[in-house]
Amino acid sequence: LSLFLQKISYRNVSVFKSKLKTDLDVGTFWTSGTKLSLHTKPRMPPCDFTPERYKTLSYNRVLEIHKQHLSPVVTAYFQKPLLLHQGHMEWLFDFEGNRYLDFFSGVVTVSVGHCHPKVNAAAQKQLTHLWHTSTIFFHPPMHEYAEKLSALLPEPLKVIFLTNSGSEANDLAMLMARAHSNNTDIISFRGAYHGCSPYTLGLTNVGSFKMKLPSGMGCQATMCPDVFRGPWGGSHCRDSPVQTIRKCNCAPGCCQAKDQYIEQFKDTLNTAVAKSIAGFFAEPIQGVNGVVQYPKGFLKEAFQLVRQRGGVCIADEVQTGFGRLGSHFWGFQTHDVLPDIVTMAKGIGNGFPMAAVVTTPEIAKSLAKRLLHFNTFGGNPMACAIGSAVLEVIKEDSLQENSQEVGTYMLLKFAKLRDEFEIVGDVRGKGLMIGIEMVKDKMSRQPLPHEEINQIHEDCKEMGLLIGRGGIFSQTFRIAPAMCITKPEVDFAVEVFRSALIQHMERRAK
Ligand SMILES: Cc1ncc(COP(=O)(O)O)c(C=O)c1O
Ligand SMILES: *[C@@H]1O[C@H](CO)[C@@H](O)[C@H](O)[C@H]1NC(C)=O
Repeated sequence: LSLFLQKISYRNVSVFKSKLKTDLDVGTFWTSGTKLSLHTKPRMPPCDFTPERYKTLSYNRVLEIHKQHLSPVVTAYFQKPLLLHQGHMEWLFDFEGNRYLDFFSGVVTVSVGHCHPKVNAAAQKQLTHLWHTSTIFFHPPMHEYAEKLSALLPEPLKVIFLTNSGSEANDLAMLMARAHSNNTDIISFRGAYHGCSPYTLGLTNVGSFKMKLPSGMGCQATMCPDVFRGPWGGSHCRDSPVQTIRKCNCAPGCCQAKDQYIEQFKDTLNTAVAKSIAGFFAEPIQGVNGVVQYPKGFLKEAFQLVRQRGGVCIADEVQTGFGRLGSHFWGFQTHDVLPDIVTMAKGIGNGFPMAAVVTTPEIAKSLAKRLLHFNTFGGNPMACAIGSAVLEVIKEDSLQENSQEVGTYMLLKFAKLRDEFEIVGDVRGKGLMIGIEMVKDKMSRQPLPHEEINQIHEDCKEMGLLIGRGGIFSQTFRIAPAMCITKPEVDFAVEVFRSALIQHMERRAK
């Protein structure tokens, strides 16, 4: 507790410092060469944590081992991949002791903070009591967790299946949808990512994940109602403090873009699937596809159409759940819909492998009637103890409220950069799930070329800010930090991003 208090008082000091700094910065502009140096190294807010000295493998040894023994599929960011050593809340430390503000949280996964003391304590306690039993025996951590998690979901979503990853959760949800409906066809959006297992690859509609082999039987893609890049969209479509730069003259409560995209959805139902379908998967806001938001009301109408065809509706809350969107605990609540199945992973365990499928007693029964489902590690005591602590911390530290407050503050700050820079095409999101889509110019909305975005990304890292990428052209920067971040840290992140854009403009001008 004393550590926590110390941190809070420390943070107050940094609020004050950061205010002074931004006041001084007003009036500078990127074209001014002499003032540029003021911007190139924004000052990082303080952190009261000191990492241990790094004493293990040398950087080159790590590269060598990686090359020889690990997956040759390159997923590492940066020309010189980052070798990390320790983490504390929203901070990461590399092998050389450099500190980074982590605004991507291990791909939207560290929900309450790296090595959060309360979660660590729960993990350590369970570690000394019992690691594993499998579901053939009962153990209280699983039952305590099931009770806690179900309390956070509306009726009739009360039956929980525990798994280890988002892909496993979606695999199971696909099975459930088929077992319950007696149908096969499942619809998901183009550009969607729902996992990488052979079964979920049918739902994932990103070209680079597709193989030249038959797969994804019974899965069909439909147009993603992307109000920025898609054919329709305007200035009131989305549930975000920031709208697109597109104009529209829809009357209040109407959205022509939504109507157009619903026509496309009907077209898919009429042409690409059987008369009766098994289900429809959607994320409340798309993560991997670059924080894409649909027009308000779209999901509600789509869910009705799916149910008319005998299908069940699945909300993939792997990225959007657990308070990240601020206004609500679950993303589906922001669309005013009630799914039949909800899948969750990532933030559920703050980085510990854990996932869940929550559904109605009726659907759960349909599955149980059809098949035996077993998962060795699902509901593991360690995972459940950690999951319970994560839920407690979200509540005790008011992290949903912090997502709302700090996320909205950040969205509005990034929206100002869109006004300032031609290559910032769109700023969107809700709470602490934010996307910044980079374009060649605002007129064409063509993606900014890869090499240019890579360099901006790398420059942010050099200044101590870690952010993510998304979109099928990797054209969108994604921001989804642990929900414990503060406004001074946001000020720093925005300053860093702005400096990286200024450096980019300078390179271009040469
Ligand atoms: C929306 C969504 N669903 C499912 C998954 C798959 O989760 P996992 O990587 O834990 O299998 C991901 C992973 O990025 C995701 O973003
Ligand atoms: C699916 O098939 C089973 C077994 O034939 C049947 O009991 C059930 O009512 C069917 N469900 C639907 C939704 O048609």
